[in-house]
Amino acid sequence: MQDTDALKDRLIAAISSAGDVESLEQIRVSSVGRKGEVSLLMRELGRMTPEERMVRGPELNALKDEVNLAISRRRDELAEAALQLRLSEEWMDVTMPGRTRRAGTLHPVSQVTEEVIAIFGGLGFSVAEGPQIETDWHNFDALNMPPEHPARQEHDTFYMHSDGNDGHPPHVLRTHTSPVQIRHMKSHGVPCRVIAPGRVYRADYDQTHTPMFHQYEGLCLDRDVSMANLKWTLEEFCRSFFELEGVELRFRASHFPFTEPSAEVDIRCSWADGQLKIGTGDDWLEILGCGMVHPKVLEAGGVDPDQWQGFAFGMGIDRLAMLKYGIPDLRAFFDSHVSWLRHYGFPPLDVPTLHAGLSRTGL
Ligand code: DAH
Repeated sequence: MQDTDALKDRLIAAISSAGDVESLEQIRVSSVGRKGEVSLLMRELGRMTPEERMVRGPELNALKDEVNLAISRRRDELAEAALQLRLSEEWMDVTMPGRTRRAGTLHPVSQVTEEVIAIFGGLGFSVAEGPQIETDWHNFDALNMPPEHPARQEHDTFYMHSDGNDGHPPHVLRTHTSPVQIRHMKSHGVPCRVIAPGRVYRADYDQTHTPMFHQYEGLCLDRDVSMANLKWTLEEFCRSFFELEGVELRFRASHFPFTEPSAEVDIRCSWADGQLKIGTGDDWLEILGCGMVHPKVLEAGGVDPDQWQGFAFGMGIDRLAMLKYGIPDLRAFFDSHVSWLRHYGFPPLDVPTLHAGLSRTGL
């Protein structure tokens, strides 16, 4: 009797002074663990007389329960103390301003491409695509530029490597988006109304030329599409794109092998103090080439020129971006300077869409 009370006092004292979970665990193992003091005492029960066991059994069980209870209480106390310590040490000032993250911006070429798609989408044009590595045939021959044609020289073409023995001329990096006309006619037939924006390549480099730049092509074919429809379409585009009600375009007779008749189109502008202003003034700035699709081009696209006709046009996307947003040097477009992108870039959530139109103009 006496020895159990003494043992209990000792164990309870040790438990309540245990300073951490590890020492508490040691006490548990050495008291009520399999070979602990209490457990060893319990093993002796087997050697006792039934009378002794009736007294000693309940006594030892009570001891074991009390020790277990004291251990679990102490464990809770230690956990609570640890939590209080963390709460007093760690803290957060919820009134602090959040960390701002700089949002990326949309490149002017992407922005203008989306604007062009949105405007022509509203006019019933869908988007067509073609490869950037193009066959010599699609890029030139099919567009009425046979091998000896002088216009080929003007294009400063990049040629792909060729083994020279397969009998085919080398592929080219497309010098314009016009080959998409041929591909679209072949794959979709007529009637059609598409624009084809994309990258084009020419070996040229100065303030207004880079070896890679962007164009978009327009193609509209039907039974009686005329030059008047072309004029209206381009004026409508410029009115929306430059956000000018009374936009003035000048159609100048020109020559392209793939259109007949052909025209270059200028937009009215002024240069005051080196500042370009579109829409007013006495100057004219060339912005695109266009015309009625040449019968030979229709034939190359598998379209019967006696049944169908229409117009095509081609415009520089980078050039449109420079004009609309006053960006002086084309080369900077492709330098990937973050400061340039922040300055000339657009908020990514403001991109024009087909259904919303140009968000800033409310088109
Ligand atoms: N492909 C011409 C170029 O890159 C632009 C062009 C002119 C496209 C007249 C056309 C067109 O579709 O009709 O210079």
